[in-house]
Amino acid sequence: MQIWDFEGKTVVVTGAAQGIGKEVASEIVRGGGHVVILDLNLNKAEETAKELGNSKAYRVDLGNSESIRETMAQVLNDYERIDVVVNCGGIVSRALFEDLTDAEWDRCVRINMTGTFVMCQTVYNHFKEHGGGRIVNVASVAGKIGGGLMGRSAYAASKAGVIGLTKAIAKEGGKYNICANAVCPSFTKTPMTSSLDEETNNRIISMIPLGRAAEPHEPAQMILFFASDAASFVNGEIGDVDGGIVLD
Ligand SMILES: NC(=O)c1ccc[n+]([C@@H]2O[C@H](COP(=O)([O-])OP(=O)(O)OC[C@H]3O[C@@H](n4cnc5c(N)ncnc54)[C@H](O)[C@@H]3O)[C@@H](O)[C@H]2O)c1
Repeated sequence: MQIWDFEGKTVVVTGAAQGIGKEVASEIVRGGGHVVILDLNLNKAEETAKELGNSKAYRVDLGNSESIRETMAQVLNDYERIDVVVNCGGIVSRALFEDLTDAEWDRCVRINMTGTFVMCQTVYNHFKEHGGGRIVNVASVAGKIGGGLMGRSAYAASKAGVIGLTKAIAKEGGKYNICANAVCPSFTKTPMTSSLDEETNNRIISMIPLGRAAEPHEPAQMILFFASDAASFVNGEIGDVDGGIVLD
């Protein structure tokens, strides 16, 4: 496996207590970086920080803008310099459009899209003052094809919003050397997908040209590339790690 160079870098990764975010955090530490883990589940985040070493956990609720602003103010106070933010924390919403309640719509859009917006905004000025920085947002194939694998309309809309937001930040932030890119995974074996019944599992896999689910390290590799200096001229790119679903 490729070792990415994060020597001397401090990287904030949301949702890194488990799943894809944990994989990303682990590879950053392996590449010599320090990881700031932000997660709703502080116990699990602390366990992960202990397991990985060279990382520190903070509690944040991505569904609550105040919580994000407070936690990020603390992080920016504790660290002289943040180099990269990876927004990986999120939830799936499986409600059919016809059954979708206002509350479920709000919950999903608030955590996945508004949470990403507030995270990006809290670090934007810091990046401006320090000559730049990198943002990697984790969207989903659902944001490109209208859901249908696991997440449905609220999830698809929240992730499509993340894609649009990423492009807008790339455009406005470029002049400050702020690069924003997004990664669109498809079906990946993490705690988010582990409770699916066999029939749903097989139905989803039948839609993926590679004919299998991804391991967490597979989407993590593209996230790490976008987060690293190897992607220094990559800005506003939306990268698919979907086994061949989207083909654009
Ligand atoms: N697993 C997949 O098949 C898949 C596919 C496409 C996109 N994604 C996206 O990848 C990202 C990571 O997914 P995963 O599969 O690792 O999920 P996961 O459920 O395994 O991990 C998500 C992490 O986010 C944290 N989190 C959830 N709500 C939060 C909140 N309100 N505040 C702070 N933290 C919160 C959880 O505690 C958890 O640690 C998500 O954005 C997800 O939408 C996943």
